[in-house]
Amino acid sequence: MRKGILTIGATVAALSLGLTACGGDDGGTSATASGAPAASGASVGKIGVILPDSKSSARWETADRKYLKEAFDAAGVESDIQNAQGDKTAFQTIADQMITNGAKVLVIVNLDSGTGKAVLDKAQSQGVATIDYDRLTLGGSASYYVSFDNEKVGQLQGEGLVKCLTDDKVEKPIIAELNGSPTDNNATLFKNGYDSVLKPKYDSGEYVKGPDDSVPDWDNAQAGTIFEQQLTQQPKIAGVLAANDGLGNAAIAVLKKEKLNGKVPVTGQDATVQGLQNILAGDQCMTVYKAIKKEADAASQLAIALAKGEKPAAPATVKDPESNRDVPSVLLDPQAIYFDNVKDVVTDGYVTKDELCTGDFAAKCTEAGVS
Ligand code: BGC
Repeated sequence: MRKGILTIGATVAALSLGLTACGGDDGGTSATASGAPAASGASVGKIGVILPDSKSSARWETADRKYLKEAFDAAGVESDIQNAQGDKTAFQTIADQMITNGAKVLVIVNLDSGTGKAVLDKAQSQGVATIDYDRLTLGGSASYYVSFDNEKVGQLQGEGLVKCLTDDKVEKPIIAELNGSPTDNNATLFKNGYDSVLKPKYDSGEYVKGPDDSVPDWDNAQAGTIFEQQLTQQPKIAGVLAANDGLGNAAIAVLKKEKLNGKVPVTGQDATVQGLQNILAGDQCMTVYKAIKKEADAASQLAIALAKGEKPAAPATVKDPESNRDVPSVLLDPQAIYFDNVKDVVTDGYVTKDELCTGDFAAKCTEAGVS
């Protein structure tokens, strides 16, 4: 599925990218690596961003919106960032309005490939440049794709679950999988990643494959219902591969009712405050931290270059499995987070000590070296 992948060091990515634009003719008005404002914003078109929802993960509103806005503002570029709130019709309406209002670039996080493709194709037909942000639109026409190495994310989750089960000396654990939305290409990539770790263990008999279900739209409430059914069907579940912190938290809530929290390791993703607190409490085994600031910086620099009519170079390509197109891409490196390195997420400025170390978590924070 991936071809010629070049996962670049996170620091380099946002900075070096695109600003050696080929075909750029703005005579040095690009935003600089330090994020200094462009010398002149006059010839830069407006940039529209459509985020997917605000429930499937806290990240979209607390991190992506914030970092994208900061990057556009620092460059003195006009932006309009909206959230489709999980509504595919609203997603298309917002895109239409952005195009009508003169957006020169659209940055989208699709809700599914079908509606994503419709938006991208329409933008292209109107001369509006496009970027797939975080999620690749299969069969789509985006000029660029900016994300993390999502199979690596899944691999870290698989390895994390194995580490926690090994630490707990669990033998022949029955594993439940709580996958992301079947309409999100990332969910497929995450699963490819964690199954590449778990399947050999199922095949060798070291682990036992238990229930394996996808959660429509990453809906956290449905995840609770689904996990309840999984646990009813297989009460001996000993490890839960949950694809993000929201799904993990739903599983933990069900485990709590059975007094199994802390005994059954659960994975996650996104390093949300809730996920990190679940790790501090010992109820969640690990999460995957994706430095959203670097993702937002990479996407905004590409968008700004496009808004100036440039054709920035990208450091990698990803093959769209539906169209076989090589999509110019930026893929960043994810990091596994356990109790001992929760502090890294705070040091990086992604969450603050104040929001993480509330109430009973203060003592846990001290124990985990969060300062
Ligand atoms: C993102 C994850 C997020 C999930 C639900 C995925 O496409 O990569 O970070 O948790 O969507 O919003």
